[in-house]
Amino acid sequence: KMIYYVTPTYPRPEQIPELTRLSHTLMHVPRIHWVIADDQPICSETVKTVVRRSGIPFTHISSPKPFQYKSNNFPRGVANRRAAIDWIRQNIHEGILYFGDDDNTIDLQLFEEMRMTKRVSMFPVGLIGGYGVSSPIVKDGKVAGFFDSWPGSRTFPVDMAGFAVNIEFLTSSASMPYIAGHEEDKFLVSLGLKIEDIEPLADNCTKVMVWHTRTVKFKKPTLKVNFDKMNGDQYKNFA
Ligand code: UGA
Ligand code: MN
Repeated sequence: KMIYYVTPTYPRPEQIPELTRLSHTLMHVPRIHWVIADDQPICSETVKTVVRRSGIPFTHISSPKPFQYKSNNFPRGVANRRAAIDWIRQNIHEGILYFGDDDNTIDLQLFEEMRMTKRVSMFPVGLIGGYGVSSPIVKDGKVAGFFDSWPGSRTFPVDMAGFAVNIEFLTSSASMPYIAGHEEDKFLVSLGLKIEDIEPLADNCTKVMVWHTRTVKFKKPTLKVNFDKMNGDQYKNFA
């Protein structure tokens, strides 16, 4: 089965290094199609250059966030993931959908495991919240509950990177809401998923094979110059 790897992305100083690193992982994965979902009015040429150089088959779509979400605590990557879901529903009839943010780290073995997904598979995600890991709890090979530091009245308290979906299970009701913190849960609920249908991967969810790594935000460098010591032309350009 082909994997459709959906990455929402937006411009910032860390974008190109993140996508470069991610592309170097995906280059090792056979039968993968990278869906770059750009949070921009038009597809970024810079992004396209990085993706094209990787040689990975890709689709680049753009769908910027609506204006009212340009605040502080807004749902991230929703308009663009929605566009990716629509594109997949309209063009792809079989394969696996995986939401892989541009700031995650993925073990190559996880791709081979998720290819087996019949409906929805789940696995632990490292570096999430106060517990450091978010994972389904597995009992006798079945998902019996969830371990997540923020249950937040969610039916499926999991991270975006903690599940894969068989595209045949992606019905017309599939949707993602503009509600921060509830995107994953409401999406899974919209699929009509039942807890008993979840397929646990990663050795019954005992292994972490994907991490929400995050990159420290780039701070604009400030150049500290002692002007008293500036007596030569060599400092001119820094003043
Ligand atoms: C966490 C989860 O990892 C996300 O999958 C989830 O969508 C988000 O919480 C949420 O619940 O809103 P977080 O680390 O807080 O994500 O957010 P980012 O990593 O900044 O953004 C998630 C993804 O959306 C990234 O791939 C990012 O590039 C993209 N994004 C972010 C946009 O496309 N537009 C934005 O304005 C911000
Ligand atoms: Mn993130």
